[in-house]
Amino acid sequence: MVRLVGMALGLVFCFVLAWAFLVPREATQPDPVKLLHREPKEVSWPHTGPFGKFDRAQLQRGFQVYKEVCSSCHGLYHVHYRDLEKIGFTPAQVKAIAAEYEVPAIDPNTGETITRPALPTDKFYRPFPNEQAARAANNNAYPPDLSLIIKARKNGESYVYSLLTGYGEEPPPGFEVPDGLNYNPYFHSVNIAMAQPLVDGQVEYADGTPATVDQMAKDVVAFLRWAAEPELEVRRRVGLASLLFLSILAVLSYLTYRRVWADVKP
Ligand code: HEC
Repeated sequence: MVRLVGMALGLVFCFVLAWAFLVPREATQPDPVKLLHREPKEVSWPHTGPFGKFDRAQLQRGFQVYKEVCSSCHGLYHVHYRDLEKIGFTPAQVKAIAAEYEVPAIDPNTGETITRPALPTDKFYRPFPNEQAARAANNNAYPPDLSLIIKARKNGESYVYSLLTGYGEEPPPGFEVPDGLNYNPYFHSVNIAMAQPLVDGQVEYADGTPATVDQMAKDVVAFLRWAAEPELEVRRRVGLASLLFLSILAVLSYLTYRRVWADVKP
């Protein structure tokens, strides 16, 4: 009898252990953050697809949004001012844009540290000298460098677009947003330290495009996509040319094969 009770207890123990092992934690205690977190919105871009190309006017508008809004907190460490010529700015315009910023330098005559206007060969101006300074100015959150952000996040373009347009919703009742953070269901923790950066009419586009939040978000994302992968169009062109070349080569190889084996194979 004792043995039977012991076996039954052992079985119950094994069953509970297997149940705890197999049933995911969310099934019993759903994580509120996971329930609120949303996947990025679907957006189509002129530069997606094998024949997609960057819209130069859009890239220039996106640069304007980056320059006037995002650049006060986020750097673009891997982009030089001269790269802007590739999105349609003239060398004189690039020189004028660079000259708006003062960068640290060394006086060649005295060896003292000075500042001088940036040149087209300089990298983009950094808003903060290092991470500590950036955190100190941003409530201890770090605004990441944006040069590669589109590649660094899954579904990067749609994600950043959704993040920028995902503010303004009230959190559901009972959900506490910690002090200094903002509710944004597209951010992984649904609370982001960045306050809503874009509001309607924040920039004035030279080409007259209405500066809605949606438009500015699309433009700046296109610009960041270009910053992360300026060689996108060339890469696609080379890819298509290689495919064409390989298909012609395949036909020629097949014909050669037929010819070489013509006497051997009936
Ligand atoms: C006032 C400063 C400030 C401005 C202006 C600003 N950001 Fe941010 N941004 C931050 C901070 C701080 C974080 C870090 C947030 C966190 O970790 O919670 C951040 C994070 C981000 C992230 C990263 C999200 C992730 O997945 O890690 C992206 C993308 C971003 N910002 C894009 C932009 C764009 C685009 C603009 C311009 C339209 C902009 N930001 C303007 C402060 C700013």
